[in-house]
Amino acid sequence: MTDDPNLIRIGNANAREDVLRDGRLHFVSGRGLARATKLLIEALPATSPGPFLVSRDRTAAIAIAARRLWPEVSVTEHHHDAFVAGLAHRNLASNAARVESVLGPTLPVGPFALIAMSFEAGADSLVARELIEEAHDALLPGGQLLAGTDGKHTWLEEAVEHVFRNARCIMPSDGPGAVMRAERKSTIARKKDRRHALRVTHAGRTLSLATCPGVFSHGRLDRGTKALLEVASERTDGPILDLGCGPGTLGIALAQDDGAGLVLVDSDTRAIACATENLSTHGLSGAQALLRGDLEDLPALPYRLATANPPYYGDGRIANSFTARAAGLLHTEGRLMLVARDAARHAEIVSAHFLEVEAKLVGDYTVFTARKARAPKAE
Ligand SMILES: C[S@@+](CC[C@H](N)C(=O)[O-])C[C@H]1O[C@@H](n2cnc3c(N)ncnc32)[C@H](O)[C@@H]1O
Repeated sequence: MTDDPNLIRIGNANAREDVLRDGRLHFVSGRGLARATKLLIEALPATSPGPFLVSRDRTAAIAIAARRLWPEVSVTEHHHDAFVAGLAHRNLASNAARVESVLGPTLPVGPFALIAMSFEAGADSLVARELIEEAHDALLPGGQLLAGTDGKHTWLEEAVEHVFRNARCIMPSDGPGAVMRAERKSTIARKKDRRHALRVTHAGRTLSLATCPGVFSHGRLDRGTKALLEVASERTDGPILDLGCGPGTLGIALAQDDGAGLVLVDSDTRAIACATENLSTHGLSGAQALLRGDLEDLPALPYRLATANPPYYGDGRIANSFTARAAGLLHTEGRLMLVARDAARHAEIVSAHFLEVEAKLVGDYTVFTARKARAPKAE
């Protein structure tokens, strides 16, 4: 397996093999390629289509396949998330695949002759609809969209048909999932505004925050976020670091009026676009919203508070990285406030980095307040 010069390596492990395109493409990876990725690679045309864009290709397997199938064609990959883009870049580099990479809240404008995108089972259908509309307008007239899913396909077929009016569904004979194929015919897709305002009441103020599909708490305040604000109760003096800020809800609700020293950070470009807009709407001119793939290069301020509502996916890896970063950056008298549903796992994570940890149960959530040094006992 290892001496094949045509081998494509995805990640560092080589437990699984996927042989595609009649043996022409041979992938090795830890868990095997996702079903939607394999269906899309099989659906790519045999001959060069012209400029090609692929979005939501987390492992870069589709981009690498395209590079191998059509060495002369320009291949662009698009990511919403800087952390995911970093993983994809590593696979592109280890397979010496020359691919232009674009990171941003919307698809690059193109024009492209072919666009492929993959929607794994459970993908957010509003995000899919927005991407399909953007893809329509980024295609050349006559250009084609390939949209793949590994789960039920009816919703995706409807979404593609709604925008393109000529969706064709290619069903594999050997298992679940499908690929929709459609051609750009009309001039411009009708776009729907799916942004929602989120209302947050905290410490006597009600804020209206912009959210959009793909951003956490799109249109509805998360119960974990609400639990943390309930425990925080007051606004905070001094710099605040909001780790994994989403639209900026925690940091904005807890900051002082001008936002001096407020740093919002997230790996998702759509979250940072909303957070930036929310800072501007609320006149927080002293604050900044930063896109970071792995919380790297954050401003070294004497933070009095770090907030985190880490995602549930990631086996605690992200919660651990948020907590470690907070411990490294907080002022000695600063505190981390972190909310989670899995109290036992997060208690272990927070205690690994902080000396004094308090936990408060709010409904199904536990809000941890952690300090580096024990507060002196009152006389
Ligand atoms: C559960 S949401 C919380 C959002 C916001 N703090 C709130 O309470 O509404 C977690 C956020 O962490 C972000 N995130 C996930 N992994 C990240 C990473 N490695 N670096 C920075 N942000 C990350 C996600 O994009 C998401 O916006």
